[in-house]
Amino acid sequence: APTADEIRDVVTPLTALEGPLLPMLHAIQAEWGHVPQAAVPVLADVLNLGRAEVYGVISFYHDFRDHPAGRHILKICRAEACQSMGGAAMAAGVLDRLGVDWHGTTADGAVTVEPVYCLGLCACGPAAMLDGQLMGRVDGDRLVAALEAAR
Ligand code: FES
Repeated sequence: APTADEIRDVVTPLTALEGPLLPMLHAIQAEWGHVPQAAVPVLADVLNLGRAEVYGVISFYHDFRDHPAGRHILKICRAEACQSMGGAAMAAGVLDRLGVDWHGTTADGAVTVEPVYCLGLCACGPAAMLDGQLMGRVDGDRLVAALEAAR
């Protein structure tokens, strides 16, 4: 995990920006793959904000993760067309089998599951994407099998 000084080095050049907090969070995540807890006091200090305020922004934007992502990223579509094809139940089943919630990473660090709102495969929902590979008409068994193969 990065030290406070390393985080400070990454964010300090951005202090001159207007509305610097989001660019700083993106820079941290680009550097370390997630926004570690250690970033909160650094950002609060650099920007003269309360820690709760910084933390609130991190949790509001689901783009930011507070843990490193898994080796594989599974995105499951939660938009309307896929929901109408049984996507919600399929997703709930997959999350259950993996033992994670949305944005969660399996205990072995293999898979992070993220929601996504339309993958452009509405005609063949429910849709998902594993490591950038689109999958249409998925069911729980197929997704879990694809994950097994990827591991
Ligand atoms: Fe799921 Fe468009 S609604 S791919």
